[in-house]
Amino acid sequence: MLNKCLVGGLWFFFIAASPLLAQEINLERQQQLTHIVKQDCGSCHGMTLKGGLGTPLLPEDLANKSIEFLSYTIINGRPTTAMPPWREILTEQEATWIAQQLKLGSFNDK
Ligand code: HEC
Repeated sequence: MLNKCLVGGLWFFFIAASPLLAQEINLERQQQLTHIVKQDCGSCHGMTLKGGLGTPLLPEDLANKSIEFLSYTIINGRPTTAMPPWREILTEQEATWIAQQLKLGSFNDK
């Protein structure tokens, strides 16, 4: 437990201290985010992200959409649609990471 706090604290220090590392998300959090995408996002977008109530989120569907646009959608949701805002659960950095991975199709081989 103490160890976990230490590791978390170190990461915070790292991220806060170095703008160059601002894009890094530790492995444990990456696994949590992958789980969130499959379970929570998957409930609308489909477990394999090929769409359901939500639109498909496969690389070919997102090819023309920027990472900024996608992460903005994740953080703020889309008012008047079923897409909810995730800002209580995800940071902008995490939403950016998810948008990058969606465009790469990484969630489908994990
Ligand atoms: C309650 C259902 C629901 C959940 C849960 C949900 N979404 Fe959505 N999402 C939608 C719908 C519906 C749209 C399409 C909105 C529209 O018509 O513009 C959408 C749109 C999007 C878009 C924009 C796609 C595009 O082509 O412009 C992204 C990116 C996205 N969702 C990511 C996520 C992520 C990541 C999660 C999980 C953190 C998530 N969504 C969870 C319903 C959902």
